[in-house]
Amino acid sequence: KLYTGPPAMRLPVTLKRVFETARTNGGTPVKIDQVSGWVKNVRPLKTITFVEIQDGTTLQDLTVVLKQGAPSFKPSLGQSVTVLHPEIVQRKNQQFETLCMPENLKLIGPTVEYPVQNKQTSLPTLRKLPEFKHRTTYLSNLLRFRHKVESQLTKTLDGLDFTMVRPPILTSIDCEGAGEMFNLKQDHWDEIVNLTVSSQLHLEVLMMGLGRVYCLQPCFRAEKSDTNRHLCEFWMLEVEASFVDKNESLMDLVELMVKSVVLSLSETKDLPKYFPVGCNIDITSRWAKLLQDWKRITYTDAVEALLSSGVKFEHDLAWGKDLNSEHERWLCDHFGGPVFVTNYPRDCKAFYMKLRPDGTTVECFDLLFPEIGEIVGGSVREDDYDTLKQEIERRDMASNQLDWYLNLRKEGTVPHGGFGIGIERLVSYLYGNPNIRDSIPFHRTAGQIDL
Ligand code: 4AD
Repeated sequence: KLYTGPPAMRLPVTLKRVFETARTNGGTPVKIDQVSGWVKNVRPLKTITFVEIQDGTTLQDLTVVLKQGAPSFKPSLGQSVTVLHPEIVQRKNQQFETLCMPENLKLIGPTVEYPVQNKQTSLPTLRKLPEFKHRTTYLSNLLRFRHKVESQLTKTLDGLDFTMVRPPILTSIDCEGAGEMFNLKQDHWDEIVNLTVSSQLHLEVLMMGLGRVYCLQPCFRAEKSDTNRHLCEFWMLEVEASFVDKNESLMDLVELMVKSVVLSLSETKDLPKYFPVGCNIDITSRWAKLLQDWKRITYTDAVEALLSSGVKFEHDLAWGKDLNSEHERWLCDHFGGPVFVTNYPRDCKAFYMKLRPDGTTVECFDLLFPEIGEIVGGSVREDDYDTLKQEIERRDMASNQLDWYLNLRKEGTVPHGGFGIGIERLVSYLYGNPNIRDSIPFHRTAGQIDL
């Protein structure tokens, strides 16, 4: 509920709100003091000039029909302007419009060499223009789209009695044991301090008090891989649930969460505004396909299928080796959609996963998506003190750092599990943009740190 008492709201009205009012006004103009925005397009005709402006709250333009005369400036792309006393109506063609006398169009911020041509600038060029790129329809829309995806994901968890928590970013522990941490140079602590690669271990502590928890925050990995699916700083939605002892329960939850996102996107009335400009992927059928059943296959069966496929893969594969992205792609193509691969050999995975009765595989899963590969990684956690201690020792991991984690298994231990969803990868796939660098406002990859 919105508080409406004093002090009165003094933010300017947004175009989004104005358009909503105009839409319900049945042709009666909405009169306001003023409205401001950025010039997105200018179309001069003989006696009038169409100046299209947006304020960022909606992708729909306000077409300012500028009457002939001598405005104090020449409207051009990228300028910020104010329209005084507009009377905004929705035309039959659904466009929003206001007539404007030249003296009522005021320049707020001029441009010098505005570098972004809305529809013509390529993505690689835009990536080199981080201070401008979000002014394009395509990339600003991608961030709106991401917001929608994140909201729906967390909404689903909230509805299932999960509590959002905020684990620390600074930590001494390498959760994944892959040695991909960024170490901080600092004088505050005697030990090495890292940026977290995953919040999972802290979530496990919190799960013991709150039962079901999740967090949505950045993770950091010193990735050298220069690919379209790796970032040094990315956002993970991590989930941890108590009294869960089977992969199936976790996979069901992942599937429910992602399908709920797809459903909510599909049901968005103003859906077309979410389609990328110039996108030649058929997003509707991509989403429809995601709503079908997802394949679940064990690692052992996946390796068997890959080996008997007759395909000559670049990277060798044998039972016990981790799957490579080409293998992951083949599996998704072969099964025609997302694939959960379960029960990997324990040496392919992190130390904390629950050892299965066979003593060689762990109760875990990766969710693979076509094109982009692994979107989610998760597992049931090892909840037996002795087994976990042996595993930590077997891997020569600094066990005193992990004492608190190990001791969780002594004090009221419960079966539990969770997973992490890579937000940029999910958003990229759903948006139909193959490079996850565009799904985060300012991407961090090797060599990319300014802005
Ligand atoms: O499979 P990962 O490494 O799992 C974990 O970190 C678990 N501790 C999560 C958990 O159980 N709470 O990473 C999970 C997901 C991957 O599937 C991928 O989508 C994403 O995080 N991810 C990356 N995304 C972008 N750039 C990177 N360098 C990524 N590394 C992982």
